[in-house]
Amino acid sequence: MAADLLALIRMNGSVPAHVAVIMDGNGRWAQERHLPRPFGHREGMKAVREVVEGCLEAGVEVLTLFAFSEENWQRPASEISALMRLLEEYIAKEVHELREQGVAVHVLGERSRLAPAARAAVERVERETAGGLRLVLNLCISYSSRAELARAARLLAEEVLDGTRQVDDIDEEAIRAKLYTAPWRDPDLLIRTSGELRLSNFLLWQLAYTELYITPVLWPDVTRRDLFQAILDYQGRERRFGKVTA
Ligand code: IPE
Ligand code: IPE
Ligand code: MG
Repeated sequence: MAADLLALIRMNGSVPAHVAVIMDGNGRWAQERHLPRPFGHREGMKAVREVVEGCLEAGVEVLTLFAFSEENWQRPASEISALMRLLEEYIAKEVHELREQGVAVHVLGERSRLAPAARAAVERVERETAGGLRLVLNLCISYSSRAELARAARLLAEEVLDGTRQVDDIDEEAIRAKLYTAPWRDPDLLIRTSGELRLSNFLLWQLAYTELYITPVLWPDVTRRDLFQAILDYQGRERRFGKVTA
């Protein structure tokens, strides 16, 4: 199946330690089939399973998925409630297997905007998978990067006000440490599905030197092969970080 690609990845060596994904195209997947948009979101859950397993097989350490943006709250109420139900269903269905597989789930974003049932599900999956050592799975829900940066500024301002920080101590590291993603390195590879050429307010700070991979495949059609193709592409890149090559 995908074992041929996996063997190539292993031969090449450097696997991206942190992969981030903008999971896009669920609505178009459904529209192509003359189905309501939530059918695409439901089908997208299978792609999440595929990519999680692909990351486990390839040895990726951190997988950060953009599942629902702050801007997505402006979608029709019926679509939002379908998405929230799916989130609860995904967690109920997957929590045991995630734990068995050593996946530690974290939810990043403004969780105060989630309804109580969704928030309870999120807290449950974080609690029950907390010991996972093989893969960190970050689900960005009610997340936007500008809001995350504004929150970091607020947290630093509070420390200045209560006297625990000097203004001169506010540097890149201080900001980085206040982001939701503080425990993890920046993504090495960003994948966006459905062919859109934009970041849509995702990890603006963290993606400064991330390698970008855009595929036309709609999210519900994604399999671990697509992840492996992206990793192979990444392995052919030369990352310079502004320097010149030796
Ligand atoms: C991505 O699919 C999932 C979410 C943003 C919640 P979309 O729902 O954006 O699908 P398209 O882009 O309309 O096809
Ligand atoms: C980005 O997709 C958000 C997620 C994948 C959760 P959108 O579909 O919301 O982005 P735009 O509107 O095409 O930029
Ligand atoms: Mg979209």
